[in-house]
Amino acid sequence: MESIAKDMQGKFNVKTLVWDGAALKLIDQRKLPFEEIYIECSSAEEVSSAIRDMVVRGAPAIGVSAAYGVALAALKCKNLAGISEFASFMQSKIEMLADSRPTAVNLFWALERMKTIIDKNTALPQSFPPNGHTGKIRSIISFIVKEAENIEKEDVKINRDIGNNIFSIYKKSSAKYSILTHCNAGALATAGYGTALGVIRSLNGASMVKEVLVDETRPYLQGARLTAWELYREKIPFFVITDNMAAYFMARGEVDMVVVGADRIAANGDTANKIGTLGVSILAKYYKVPFYVAAPVSTIDINTLCGKSIPIEQRPEDEVRAVYENTVMPDYIPVKNPSFDVTPNENITAIITEKGAVFAPYAENIKRLF
Ligand code: MRU
Repeated sequence: MESIAKDMQGKFNVKTLVWDGAALKLIDQRKLPFEEIYIECSSAEEVSSAIRDMVVRGAPAIGVSAAYGVALAALKCKNLAGISEFASFMQSKIEMLADSRPTAVNLFWALERMKTIIDKNTALPQSFPPNGHTGKIRSIISFIVKEAENIEKEDVKINRDIGNNIFSIYKKSSAKYSILTHCNAGALATAGYGTALGVIRSLNGASMVKEVLVDETRPYLQGARLTAWELYREKIPFFVITDNMAAYFMARGEVDMVVVGADRIAANGDTANKIGTLGVSILAKYYKVPFYVAAPVSTIDINTLCGKSIPIEQRPEDEVRAVYENTVMPDYIPVKNPSFDVTPNENITAIITEKGAVFAPYAENIKRLF
């Protein structure tokens, strides 16, 4: 599988996931940037482990992978005849996949889409004999696979639209901007192009990027390992900085805007994203630097009223005790490892979605998107 990554040299479209109709191949993001290898998942359980273990990460990429997890579960049922047996098997796999990670709402959104297809096609008793038959099940399986493929395809288009919508705020011009980003909201975090990095890609396409300041994003180093890898391959000018350097650069007037992704946006605009985003937003507000969240509408959880209700994943302590694979403190040292924080809506200049940029008052303007 190594060749997939190698073939992509110099192209923007890093292949985060590759579906071949029978298996899902995921670039192993734990190994980047030193090794470009793919891991093959041929069951829903393997997809769930890949999500939990961070082989694949980033809200939209988790959603797309989970959808393929459902497709893989369905493919195991080719020889099944009973419709209700099929429906309850699929329901158990959806529940298992939903348990993979708690914060990114795209996981639940994608599973809900898959469930809708399953429910629609298994709840038509008049079209099925009581015991069903394999022909019917096979046609339902093909709808399920198609839906996962649609979710993947739509994601790339959505990200390009998000990227393009930055030009509703910054008109195309000869101006060049220094942009700070946190974590990785790039092609690796999506089915392609990225959300926050999609905005940066679009600005770069219009020659409007002076440089990108990439927060390294401790403890998991998504910025230093993944965002830097993407920007380097695409020749977008960038520097990695440690997380505690953002204030230094903002105080010197060297940051023109901050663009980050999101794992879950509450109905009032409060936004959960990678731990450290809240601190960056507070700095941006203090130094009057515009702070943008770039995310698809599927990241908005209209049923969660405000950020306080967003579940925050607590990750293993050892991620903090080590920097990449190098342990820097013994395991008797107590640590905490919340993986996300919530940026209050008042710190956000705009939320850039595929349907356009949304400004305050967020509760009102977000509602209009639905
Ligand atoms: O723990 P991770 O790496 O899955 O966290 C990812 C982020 O916080 C991203 O910024 C977010 O999912 C947006 S990805 C387009």
